[in-house]
Amino acid sequence: MKNLLSIESLSGEEIAELLELGHQLKALRGEPQKQPLSGQSWGLIFSKSSTRTRVSFEVGIGELGGHTLFLSTRDMQLGRGEPIKDTARVLGRMLHGAVIRTYAQQDVEDFATYSEIPTINALTDQEHPCQILADLLTLEEIYGRGAWKNMKIAFLGDVDNNMGRSWMWAAKKLGFNLALAGPQQALPNQKILAKLDAPNITCTTDAVEAVRCATVINTDTWISMGQEDQKGSKERAFFPYQVNRELLSVAEPGHSVFHCLPAYRGYEITEDVLEAHASAIFREAENRLHAQKAVLSILSRS
Ligand code: CP
Ligand code: NVA
Repeated sequence: MKNLLSIESLSGEEIAELLELGHQLKALRGEPQKQPLSGQSWGLIFSKSSTRTRVSFEVGIGELGGHTLFLSTRDMQLGRGEPIKDTARVLGRMLHGAVIRTYAQQDVEDFATYSEIPTINALTDQEHPCQILADLLTLEEIYGRGAWKNMKIAFLGDVDNNMGRSWMWAAKKLGFNLALAGPQQALPNQKILAKLDAPNITCTTDAVEAVRCATVINTDTWISMGQEDQKGSKERAFFPYQVNRELLSVAEPGHSVFHCLPAYRGYEITEDVLEAHASAIFREAENRLHAQKAVLSILSRS
């Protein structure tokens, strides 16, 4: 593995290897650790806001012996129109790796190609692979290694966003049952469903059908970064997909609610549900650190 650009580009075996290493690194935290990034400088190139991703990468790279530079595109020439392929060829001669949060997936792909250094997708409009690895790690901690195999996982709300797409690719690669529920206009289009070609992924406009007998119920903001102008129109259509106590009454006993955060209480999730499931939700946030240390360790071997 040279880059982490998407869940789509990983194999099931690679996901399993990352999860196993993530568990090991979490157990070892606080002990003397291997320093595979010793002497390395990694750039964090961010065009969008971040709390969890930025901090978990800065801490994780430091714990693995590396040094980080936080580069906001507001301050870079990239933000004034310098092409990504020129930025990549410059930074590739100075940095040992890059973590990129931006809009277009193609920009992360181009950066990897032109920089020739390990490149990690820290969220694009297309995918959020680091979050899905942390979520799978959390699921395995709660329910056991490989427990997703015979599980129904639901994702409600803006299911064709970066989180929904990464969950879809994870379902394709690992084979678990994924039920997506959202308004008709937000369901994945036929093109992506044909590309996935995964009978274990179902789409419905019926929230109850998706949540019935599900063990893990995911949601995410209805308004992803960059979509702020769609706020009013989107919110009206999405309220039937709010994760609330009544909806969860049809879920599997012992279910968990996952949210990648930040959460918008009273919209995609109610306050009482978020607080009732805070232990899993904040564990997902912590596991960003451990999952990403696994990614960084494996990329350092390439
Ligand atoms: N979940 C997530 O990526 O959080 P941040 O936007 O705070 O990085
Ligand atoms: N779908 C959200 C995820 C935030 C971590 C967004 O892109 O804003």
